[in-house]
Amino acid sequence: MARIIGGITTSHVPAIGRAIARNLQQDPYWKPFFDGFIPVRQWLGETRPDVVVLIYNDHGLNFFLDKMPTFSIGAAPEYRNADEGWGIPTVPPFKGDPALSWHLIEQLVGEEFDLTTCQEMKVDHAFTLPMALLWPDQNWPVRVVPVCINTVQAPLPSATRCYKLGQALARAVASWSGDEKVLVLGTGGLSHQLDGERAGFINKDFDLKFMDSLVGNDPRWACQFDTHQLVEHTGTQGVELLMWLATRAMLGEKVKALHRNYHIPISNTASGLMLLQPA
Ligand code: DHB
Ligand code: FE
Repeated sequence: MARIIGGITTSHVPAIGRAIARNLQQDPYWKPFFDGFIPVRQWLGETRPDVVVLIYNDHGLNFFLDKMPTFSIGAAPEYRNADEGWGIPTVPPFKGDPALSWHLIEQLVGEEFDLTTCQEMKVDHAFTLPMALLWPDQNWPVRVVPVCINTVQAPLPSATRCYKLGQALARAVASWSGDEKVLVLGTGGLSHQLDGERAGFINKDFDLKFMDSLVGNDPRWACQFDTHQLVEHTGTQGVELLMWLATRAMLGEKVKALHRNYHIPISNTASGLMLLQPA
């Protein structure tokens, strides 16, 4: 039986890619952000996951506004990055796990999640940068299963629906016959707004309440808010916190918080990081 050994949630700002390319990890602007990942990499060195289920939102590299699945999942042998126009170097390809992907798809469709299945899928900064933060040598020691949630074009799935997706994914992993150690990685958020009158909006109060809720007695706390309320509290792109909710849901009722970091701002974003272990 495959086993979920932990969950990592992090922000995914393109500027991180430029900072990595320029080796700015010790720069005063970047140090508080990059230092947050040191204990996480140490934990990865000890636990050595085999597979990463990577929950993220594509920003137009793989899906564009003309075709926008609410939930999609990769089932490819390999996933490649490509130039998104941010001026950051692309990264080496990622090895997929088609057998596990198809098992997850079968189980989720069986649970009435109508997924888009992708046997070809380009992965953008929301996928590549968190992976590069976890494995800076970019010699990826894991296979990956990408799970994509639409946060770029209305209507978005509700927080509750994303939570249920995570729970269904966890059941699907538990019913897989392999003996893999599975890491869940959820990327996006926390509060940020890149466009419109509130560009630059950050809500530290809400972010910290949200992070607390994930490790407290009510991990579904954020499910009380509909999409418009989430945008109001976290900014138009802050809704990417849906990835954190789906990730949290995969870890079961109780978790242990092993590490967290919160730093404002990285580019326009309140950057958050959590390392959680099923209790
Ligand atoms: C920024 C943040 C994001 O989540 C993103 O996808 C692109 C840009 C930013 O703060 O610059
Ligand atoms: Fe984003």
